[in-house]
This record gives sequence, C-alpha cells and structure tokens, in this order.
Amino acid sequence: MPDQNEKFDELHNRLKAHQQEHVLRFWDEISDSQRKQLATQIEEVDLVQLDALIAGQDAEQDFAAMAKAAAPPPSVNAEGSGANWTVAEARQRGEQAIRDGQVGAVIVAGGQGTRLGFPQPKGMFPIGPVSNRTLFQFFADRLIAIQQAYSVKIPLFVMTSEATDDETHAYFKEHDYLGLSPNDVVIFKQGTMPAVDAETGKLLLAEKDSLALSPDGHGGTVAALQRSGCLQEAKDRGVRQLAYIQVDNPLAHLCDPTLLGHHLMAESEMTTQVIRKRYATERVGNVVSIDGQVQIIEYSDLPDSAAEATDQEGQLRLWAGNIAVHIIDVDFLQRASDSSDALPFHRARKKVPYLDAAGLVHDPAQPNATKFERFIFDLLPQAKNAFVAEVLPCQGFAPVKNAEGAATDTASLARQAISELHQSWIESSGGVVDSGVQVEINPLFAINPEELSGKISPKMQVQTDRYFDTLSRL
Ligand code: UTP
Repeated sequence: MPDQNEKFDELHNRLKAHQQEHVLRFWDEISDSQRKQLATQIEEVDLVQLDALIAGQDAEQDFAAMAKAAAPPPSVNAEGSGANWTVAEARQRGEQAIRDGQVGAVIVAGGQGTRLGFPQPKGMFPIGPVSNRTLFQFFADRLIAIQQAYSVKIPLFVMTSEATDDETHAYFKEHDYLGLSPNDVVIFKQGTMPAVDAETGKLLLAEKDSLALSPDGHGGTVAALQRSGCLQEAKDRGVRQLAYIQVDNPLAHLCDPTLLGHHLMAESEMTTQVIRKRYATERVGNVVSIDGQVQIIEYSDLPDSAAEATDQEGQLRLWAGNIAVHIIDVDFLQRASDSSDALPFHRARKKVPYLDAAGLVHDPAQPNATKFERFIFDLLPQAKNAFVAEVLPCQGFAPVKNAEGAATDTASLARQAISELHQSWIESSGGVVDSGVQVEINPLFAINPEELSGKISPKMQVQTDRYFDTLSRL
C-alpha cells in the first residue's frame, strides 16, 4: 500500500498531465479516509476521455443536414396499420415470449429529479390519484399482474445511482419488495461522470474530499447492466428481450405483450414506443429514419422548418415523439456493452454547486458547469431493423417531471391522466363516473379495459373517489 505522500504524488502526476491537479488542493486538510474517497473518485475518472469531451473533439452533429435527410421511421400506428401483421398476431407473439420466460424488465431510476424537487428518489413519489401508491409500487403491481396472468417469473432490474441507491434499497426492503419476490428483483447502480466548469473545463469539487459527480445519464444503463452482472443474470435466466421504461411515467406499458410482439414480428433489435406529436415543436425527441437508420433528433436540435413540414395528408412528416419505452434484444445489448464507446456523451449546461479555491461553497443561480450524459436511445442507429410502435398519449404517456405550478408534466396532470384513462375503461364497459370523481384501477384488479369489463356491472355508477384494488368486491 503506498503511504499518503506517495498516493498524493501518484495522483498529482496523473492529474497534472491533464491540468486538473487543483482537485488535490485540500489534501492536507482532510483525513485519511476522506483522502481515500477522493483518490477513488479521481481514479475512476477517465482523464483522457474527459480531455476529449472538454475540447469537444467528439463529433458535433450537423442537425440541419440530418433534418433534411430525415424521413418517418418504419412503424406500426396505434390502430395497427403500417405493419405486415395484425395487432392480434403481435399480441399473441408477445404473450408467448412472456409465457416462455424470455422477457425481463428494466426500470431506470437513477436520475436526480432536480425539476420535480422531491427530496427522495423519484420512484418513491406518490402518484396514485386515489391510492397514493408510489411510482415504484405502480410498476411492481403491473409486473405482479403480468406474472400472474402468464404464470411466469419476470426478473426486474432497477437501476439506481449514487444519488438514489441507498434509499431505493431501503425502500424495497422495508416494503417487502412491494409484493415481488426478492429473488426476482435486482437493484444495480449506474456510473458517474464529473462535472466541469463550463468556461475553464476544470473539474469541480463538491466538497474538500469529493468531486462534483452526477449520474452518467440513462444511457449508463448499458455499461451498468454489464458491470453489475445483470446482463449475464438475464441471459442465465433465459431472458432474450428486456422491456425498458423510465420510472417517471406511470402510464408506461412495462412488458406490454403487443409492443413485445411488434418488436419480435419486425425482427427488431430495438423497438421504441412513440406518441404522435400533438404539435410540431412538442418537447420530445423526434424518432426519424436517416439513410435507413432509425435515430433520434432532440426537439432542441430539430430546425422548426423540419419540425413543421407536413405530408400529403397535411400531417406532421416527422411525427414520432420518443417516450422512452423500449424493447431491447439482449444479444444486441451485449454487443453494445462490449464496445466502450457504443454511446456518445452529450453535454448539458447545468447549475452545479461547487467549492472555490478558498473552500467556500457556491450555489450558482445560473448554469455554471458542463455535465456529460449518455442517452439510451443512441443505441437505435446500431440496432438491426429498429422499429417504432405508436401509443396514444392518453394511454401511455404521463411524465412526472416538473414541480406543481408548471404548465406541463406535473404530478397533478399525471394523476388526472391516470384517472381519466381508468374512467374511459369503466365507460367502455357501460359504467358511469360522476363529474369530478377520481378513479384508479390497480392492474391486479384489471390490467386493461377488456379484463375490467368482465368484472364490473355495465350499470356501475361511481359517485365518490374509488380505488379498484385486489380487495374490491363488486
Ligand atoms: P430525466 O432526464 O428526465 O432526469 O430522466 P431526472 O433526473 O428524472 O430529472 P431532472 O432532469 O433532474 O429534473 C428520465 C428518466 O431517466 C432516469 C430518471 O430516473 C428518469 O426515470 N435517469 C436519468 C437515470 O436513471 N439516470 C440518469 O443518469 C438520468
């Protein structure tokens, strides 16, 4: 074991070669264990890669040229047209894959949720409009319902980050794995990336003994699944497809048989569920096809003229908006995770609190730092036969992103969307929900309107807020 001076020299030499030695400036003021923590963090930074990212040597994309070349992606729309198979065939195929134990679930829940301003991991946010169930519980209930319906075990891989890991573990333990079997739940942690000063490119310190680190983006899933052994575990269990969702969309169709079926029928290595954009500049990534490759152009990168272009029927030409629900082939994921640069890094200017040279903490009011993140959807261009399946926003998209008061993507809007969707299920069975009344259906009671129709009376009238759960008697 090198002594503390040797360790300092070793780190100092390494950092100096990249003009980052300032992060050792408080070395003499911190304890041995603090030094150990800082040393570990520094050793985990790929300084050569960081130099390239700071210098912007990774390829900048010409979005105007991309937008010009962009065409709608190969897709099936919500009613089932556009594919060479029917929705019923897709559903059957997907159901068979689930029954055969070929499907695993991935929920990514490592984000810091800064916009929502909730002090705990977002997965612990109460979202049930009547039940107050958390986002994690929402998906656990759905997964239990699917496991029961198909008499199968579906392994669940939950990705956390340094920011959410401890609390997520504790939450699952304290709540008996939310009704799931602990053997079927694996919580794994994504990697981190350091933030740098946006002007100087210097690493920022969060504390005297800590770099300013943040999760490496949802694209970190690829490396983290591999590093944690989850990918191997999935393969060992016979899982061939992973159903990926993000924890902050309570309407996400986790392990949806029809979506899985479309993916399998298309022989796709990665399938993405999308919504038809409601207006040209809606803030969702645009799923497009460029020279036969499916890829995403972020709304912020798509020139308005391309966003607004319409087809012969007057519909938006680039219509498909990403909602981050994907089916990913396990062998494809293995191939991608074997290649360290399978996913590029994106830069984001963010507000990052930091310690200055005098040891004073600054909490900037304006973005001061650059963060580097990978995005899962950057896998799409590498996937063979990448495919797109449309879902109606009212059925599959209610993101919880912003604090109350914002115009879009708040928890109250998501609760309203859940209640309205479940109300429409009750109405499709002939029932009535009085105005202003909230309803919520647990998937263990009914996972879709068809199942519900066998369970409620067509004359049902719901007059007060009502949660249909496993104990409901009608
Ligand atoms: P967002 O990009 O919306 O980030 O993540 P966020 O952390 O939830 O919220 P803000 O931007 O700080 O306000 C979309 C989904 O991807 C997950 C999040 O947990 C969320 O489910 N995510 C994001 C990760 O798992 N890791 C990351 O590094 C980033």
